[in-house]
Amino acid sequence: MKIMVVGGGGREHAVIKALKKNPEITEIVALPGNGGIAADATCVPVGATDLDGLVKYACENAVDFAVVTPDDPLVMGAVDLLEAAGIPCFGPNKNAAILEGSKVFSKNLMKKYGIPTAAYEVFTSSSEALDYVETAPLPLVVKADGLALGKGVLIAQTRQEAVEAVKTIMEDKKFGASGNQIVVEEFLEGPEVSVLAFTDGKTVVPMVSSMDHKRAKDHDEGLNTGGMGTIAPNPYYTPSVADTCMEQIFLPTIRAMAEEGRPFRGCLYFGLMVTKNGPKVIEYNCRFGDPEAQVVLPLLESDLFTVMQACRNGLLAETDVSFSSDSACCVIMASDGYPSSYQKGFAISFDPDLSADVYVAGAKLENEKLLTSGGRVLGVTCKAETLKDAIALAYEQVKKIHFDNAYYRKDIGQRALNAGAVQEG
Ligand code: AMP
Ligand code: GLY
Repeated sequence: MKIMVVGGGGREHAVIKALKKNPEITEIVALPGNGGIAADATCVPVGATDLDGLVKYACENAVDFAVVTPDDPLVMGAVDLLEAAGIPCFGPNKNAAILEGSKVFSKNLMKKYGIPTAAYEVFTSSSEALDYVETAPLPLVVKADGLALGKGVLIAQTRQEAVEAVKTIMEDKKFGASGNQIVVEEFLEGPEVSVLAFTDGKTVVPMVSSMDHKRAKDHDEGLNTGGMGTIAPNPYYTPSVADTCMEQIFLPTIRAMAEEGRPFRGCLYFGLMVTKNGPKVIEYNCRFGDPEAQVVLPLLESDLFTVMQACRNGLLAETDVSFSSDSACCVIMASDGYPSSYQKGFAISFDPDLSADVYVAGAKLENEKLLTSGGRVLGVTCKAETLKDAIALAYEQVKKIHFDNAYYRKDIGQRALNAGAVQEG
């Protein structure tokens, strides 16, 4: 069985390592993969958004199943094209990936089906948006409609900031055509929880919950990044919150998409905020989170490939999906200066007694040496019976990986630990 994984980050590395556990899979190719992924898969230099290139490769190289992981190819319709060419895929069709591809679509869907989310208005002209933000209650959240590399959300504390946010997105077009429409929404408060869920369009099976750490610096300071670390499970996702989410958010979303003629098959990511009025949807993503996948997939006890096939074939209700009761922590090692400017090209070395799952995000092979090539370089994941031990282990292992200019947050999981202590006590 030959599997093709589209993408080349730490998340894809985690997917590949989990798929490798299935003995029926004899070959995994990553398009494009990266220098670290090359240890676990054959990397093929076809970009994740080169849809014609993906289809051509799959058809000419006897690919049996494709896993499309990043947002752009999904929103562009990679799964539709691959399936039309006879390649079975894990991942939503284009008409379902719109749940991430358009915030206007997702907000309108939630309103229509009564799914709890922040109150909002949609604008297609900047003059109307500017009039609105003159009087709307502060703080306000201004969001570009389309994909914007995770950067299209601006939080405005003052009127001036709100005006600037609207202008940046709609007039200066900082995020290109993604800013042709905007959503302006109410600012919500509470802890954030990420829940990834497998779904075949009818059945939804949430995975273990997780918590991302998006800011560059300790204590949630500094710029927003692609994610500096994750832990699972998330202590704010209590059994009662989980029940409410299933009833008010997960099932209604899956049913709404089916009802709209857009059944969602694949991994649906629910970005949630647990407010004092209950859990609300902050965003949907049409794929595994990065770096959420790097803590969630290591806790999956069932066979990932079997679950992926079940999602595609409408068989999820009959398929076992179980998770370990352990906790996991992933610490991202980045290049100092990320997400602004940083140097790259430094050799990465690993101590022989390193004992962790290492998921490489930004590294390339040159003369058989692994060199840093990105802002986020790799993620180090450890598991243990308790979150406290998983965190301690991950930080112990981080010390066994070396490259010049390495930077990592020292407090991944601390907020979760404190929350857990409060809830237990
Ligand atoms: P998004 O790209 O929609 O996930 O937004 C990025 C981040 O902005 C989220 O993870 C939240 O931290 C924050 N955010 C988005 N929407 C809101 C909101 N309505 N209220 C408060 N914070 C928000
Ligand atoms: N960790 C957030 C995301 O994958 O979008």
